[in-house]
Amino acid sequence: MYKLVTKKVLSDVSKQFEVEAPLVARKAKPGQFIILRVDDKGERIPLTIADSDPERGTVTIIFQEVGLTTQCLGNKEAGEYINDFVGPLGKPMEFPEHPGRIIAVGGGVGIAPVYPKVKGFFKAGMDVTSIIGARNKELLILEDEMRAVSKTIHVCTDDGSYGHHGFVSDILQQYLDDGEPIAEIIAVGPLPMMRAIVNQTRPYGVKTVVSLNPVMVDGTGMCGACRVTVDGVTKFTCVDGPVFDGHQVDFDELVARSRMYLDKEKQSLEYCRCGGAK
Ligand code: NAD
Ligand code: FES
Repeated sequence: MYKLVTKKVLSDVSKQFEVEAPLVARKAKPGQFIILRVDDKGERIPLTIADSDPERGTVTIIFQEVGLTTQCLGNKEAGEYINDFVGPLGKPMEFPEHPGRIIAVGGGVGIAPVYPKVKGFFKAGMDVTSIIGARNKELLILEDEMRAVSKTIHVCTDDGSYGHHGFVSDILQQYLDDGEPIAEIIAVGPLPMMRAIVNQTRPYGVKTVVSLNPVMVDGTGMCGACRVTVDGVTKFTCVDGPVFDGHQVDFDELVARSRMYLDKEKQSLEYCRCGGAK
């Protein structure tokens, strides 16, 4: 069992826990993730390691309450326990081959997985411009944390309630049009955002990496649940990723696969709301 040490409510739908998991905390590197189960009958969900503290033996996770499992997790309080917490999984992030400006784009709850990567670049003394966005000001997370590790930061909201009125891709377009060299763009967020950004950067030939979070089961490359086609080859996000060259990812297939379990998710959530599960 793994103790939830602290809990922070980041927005109406996003929550943060520090989890006591000393072995994971000791080995965790930016870009890696864990798979957890809230109880012994629960589904396994992958979550990015947003931060880790080897001295305190804690790992920070951030999630949005979008389904049954994340709602059950969100209902937990500091001091309570969860059943499983396996990791660190996946490949650690790689540093760009060429020096120069890195642009990190985080959309919605995707700001949580982009944060440890920006922090890693910052610690390595690299020049990072961050562009973060959410539907509205209330849903924006980790602004202060991102600001602390970015040379420049832009904030956007879809409804204009804070920062630039529009999508993160609007600000990115300004940097692409400027023509100043960009070593690499890293984009993490909902699939429509990542697909839009790789299509936007492709004509400019700027390397663009994305971090994927498909459904996962075993997290060891055995079950095939997390498969994704990259450059025409089947890859497993849990062992070959989660970071891939965005220009090579088959987003159409990924979007179709992400919709496969929507009905079942809705049914589970309804069951939960009707008191069928805690
Ligand atoms: P959202 O839909 O509110 O979008 C967040 C921001 O992304 C928007 O404010 C906008 O700036 C940008 N964006 C969205 N669609 C865009 C488009 N078509 N073109 C350009 N920019 C666009 O995001 P949310 O509700 O916070 O995200 C939820 C989704 O994120 C879930 O589907 C979840 O699976 C996914 N997610 C992905 C990761 C990951 O590692 N890739 C991690 C956590 C969650
Ligand atoms: Fe089973 Fe990746 S989660 S192969």
